[in-house]
Amino acid sequence: MIGRLNHVAIAVSDLDAGIALYRDTLGANVGAPQDEPDHGVTVVFIELPNTKIELLYPLGENSPIAGFLEKNPSGGIHHICYEVDDIIAVRDHLVASGARVLGGGEPKIGAHKKPVLFLHPKDFNGTLIELEQV
Ligand code: CO
Repeated sequence: MIGRLNHVAIAVSDLDAGIALYRDTLGANVGAPQDEPDHGVTVVFIELPNTKIELLYPLGENSPIAGFLEKNPSGGIHHICYEVDDIIAVRDHLVASGARVLGGGEPKIGAHKKPVLFLHPKDFNGTLIELEQV
C-alpha cells in the first residue's frame, strides 16, 4: 500500500544553521527557503539521490511545529512521508483498521502541491506519518 519514502522532515530552530549544515558540512543539494503560510512553516528542500530531506522552520504565530521545537530545542525528526497511489483508499483502509487520521481526515494540499494526510503518531510507533498521493 505505501510506496517510496518521499521525504524525512526535520524541524530546526535555526534555519540558516540548518542550511549550512546540509549544504556545507554534508555537501547536499540544498534549495532556497520557501514560505508556506497555509502550513505555518518555511521549508527548505534538500535533494538526495534516493529521497528528500525537508527542513521545517516555524512561520507565523500558530506554527504547528512551534510546540515540537519547544520540546526539542535543538531540533529533531518531525515526520516521515510515504507515497501512496490513492490517498482516499489508503485513508479508508487505515480508518477501518483503527488508525487515527489528523485534521478531520480530509486530504489537504501539501508543500509539493499534492494531496496529503497525517496519521496520529501514537498509532504508528511514535512517528508522525505523512501520506502523499503521487
Ligand atoms: Co512533509
